[in-house]
Amino acid sequence: MLRLHLKTIPAGLGAALLCAVMAQAQSATPAPENGSFEVEPVFAGTCGFCHSDGGRAPGKGPQLMNSPRDDDFIRDRIKHGKQGAMPAFDGAFTDTQIDQIVKYIRALKPRAG
Ligand code: HEC
Repeated sequence: MLRLHLKTIPAGLGAALLCAVMAQAQSATPAPENGSFEVEPVFAGTCGFCHSDGGRAPGKGPQLMNSPRDDDFIRDRIKHGKQGAMPAFDGAFTDTQIDQIVKYIRALKPRAG
């Protein structure tokens, strides 16, 4: 019978074990394909570098909130990017995810307060 002597595990290894457990917990969370795709953090991490404040303000790229563009234009821009200005994301996101990003952009409102 294997017994874990927690006190004898060096702190570093304990932390490593904890990390492994957390990594597993993360990979156990539902994959993006089944609708759990969280646009806001993805946008902040992937697009926020150029589209400031979650798309509410211009940055290196234009402001996306209240965009006068139609959905097809937005979808196409995200998929194919623009040479020398914006990277293409058709390899990074599924069509469903891109649709969710379009919805997110459409729903953008100025931050309260
Ligand atoms: C490296 C900077 C950069 C990143 C990263 C980036 N964009 Fe852009 N984006 C731009 C620039 C620059 C433009 C303006 C292109 C042009 O000249 O038409 C743009 C344009 C757009 C447009 C069209 C807006 C309009 O009115 O023309 C949308 C929609 C858009 N980006 C969404 C996104 C999304 C969603 C992401 C993340 C998945 C993203 N962008 C990541 C730089 C970026």
